[in-house]
Amino acid sequence: MSVCLCRRPGAYCNSSLRCGVSVAPPHAFYAMNIVPAKTFDIPEIMDIERTSFIPQIQERQKTFEERLSAFPQGFLLLQDASDQTVLKNGKAVTAGYFCSEILQALPAGDNFFELGHSALKNHHSDGIVLYVSSFALYPEYRGQKLAQPFFKECLKNLCSAFPQIKTVLLLVNEEWTGARHIYRKLRFTEIRTIKAFFPSLHKDTADGIVMSAPAALFSEQAL
Ligand SMILES: CC(C)(COP(=O)(O)OP(=O)(O)OC[C@H]1O[C@@H](n2cnc3c(N)ncnc32)[C@H](O)[C@@H]1OP(=O)(O)O)[C@@H](O)C(=O)NCCC(=O)NCCS
Repeated sequence: MSVCLCRRPGAYCNSSLRCGVSVAPPHAFYAMNIVPAKTFDIPEIMDIERTSFIPQIQERQKTFEERLSAFPQGFLLLQDASDQTVLKNGKAVTAGYFCSEILQALPAGDNFFELGHSALKNHHSDGIVLYVSSFALYPEYRGQKLAQPFFKECLKNLCSAFPQIKTVLLLVNEEWTGARHIYRKLRFTEIRTIKAFFPSLHKDTADGIVMSAPAALFSEQAL
C-alpha cells in the first residue's frame, strides 16, 4: 500500500506515485507516502520514539518488534520520498509511524495500557476493536498538517481491510494537546480517565485519557 497525501490543486506533486494532484508550499517540499513498516525500519522508529516521548514512557525496541511481528498490516510509516530528500539521503526517509493491534473486546482494566504490553498476546485479527498503540512524527515533520491525514489514512486502510472492526481505541496523555486536538477533530470521544497514569515533566503525574470512535467513521465508504 502506498498513498500520496497531496491534496491541493495548483502546482506539481513530485511524489513517486505521480498522483497528478498539485500542491502549494510548504507541502510541495514533500512527497509523502504511507508504507508498511519492515524490520529494517526499527532503528528509525526507535529514533522517532526517543524524540517524541520522555524516557520514562519510551517503549523498548522489543515491544516494537513484537508489534511488527504480531500485526504487520497495522504498523505503518509516513515516508518522505520527495526528490529533495532522496537526493540528499540517497533514500526515502521515515517521517512518522503508526502502530496498532486488534483486540477481541474493549479492555476491562487499566493494566492493559501499561508500558510494554504484549501485542503478541493481545492481537486477534478477527477482533472488533482496533487499538492504536502509538503514533508520532519526527519533530522536523511536525506543524505541517501531515499528522492528521496520516492518522486518518491509517484508520481508513485498517477499518476497510478488517470490516468486522467496530471501534477504534487509544490512550492519550492529558498533556499531549496536539494529539488530543487531532483525535477530537476526528470525532474521538473520551470514555474514561486513568488518574496519574503518566509521569510528567511539568507536575508529579498526568492523567491518561481513554478515547474511542466508531470504526464506521473511517471506512472506505465513510471518507
Ligand atoms: C501528535 C503529533 C503526531 C501531531 O503532529 P503535528 O505535525 O503537530 O500535527 P499537524 O501539523 O498535522 O496538526 C494537526 C492539528 O493539530 C494542531 N496542533 C498541533 N500541535 C498542537 C498543540 N500543541 N496544541 C493544540 N493543537 C495543536 C494543529 O494546529 C492542527 O490543527 P488544525 O488542523 O485544526 O489546524 C506530533 O505532535 C507528535 O509526534 N507528538 C509526539 C508524540 C505524540 O504525542 N503522539 C500521540 C500519542 S497518543
